[in-house]
Amino acid sequence: MHMHKYEKIWLVFGIGVLFAFLVIVGVSAFAEGQQPPSCLTTIDPEKVDQTPPFDKPGLVKTGDNEYQLNIVVHAFAFTPNQIEIPKGAKVTINVTTKDVIHGFQVPGTNINMMVEPGYINTLTHTFNKPGEYTILCNEYCGAGHHMMTGRIKVVEK
Ligand code: CUA
Repeated sequence: MHMHKYEKIWLVFGIGVLFAFLVIVGVSAFAEGQQPPSCLTTIDPEKVDQTPPFDKPGLVKTGDNEYQLNIVVHAFAFTPNQIEIPKGAKVTINVTTKDVIHGFQVPGTNINMMVEPGYINTLTHTFNKPGEYTILCNEYCGAGHHMMTGRIKVVEK
């Protein structure tokens, strides 16, 4: 079968792009642990303050250097917004919102969730590097969006 030179170039280019795409998706999913939102647990967004564990937001010890961090997100703050975590702690973060869609991102880590009303989003992260981390809202949520920040301090035990 005779193929024009340009056809061959395009064929190689097309297969190359497809391959590169699969490598990018594969690396981000399996090596970097990126995954679609859990979104399996629902909650009544009007009763967040009365629904455990969000009736008492904060860090809860669940095991040997294992914690659960429950955060209520609302316009325009995170509750709590100052969190201290021991170095090496494995933390399961649960977030939900009382009003509109917000974001929950911690730059410098893999933590990046969309927080949707009616849902509890969960992610587990081990904080191995001591230091101060900023929590950001990365979904535009209104006039105070740019002020929505919090702080995680990872401290030596
Ligand atoms: Cu909350 Cu932007």
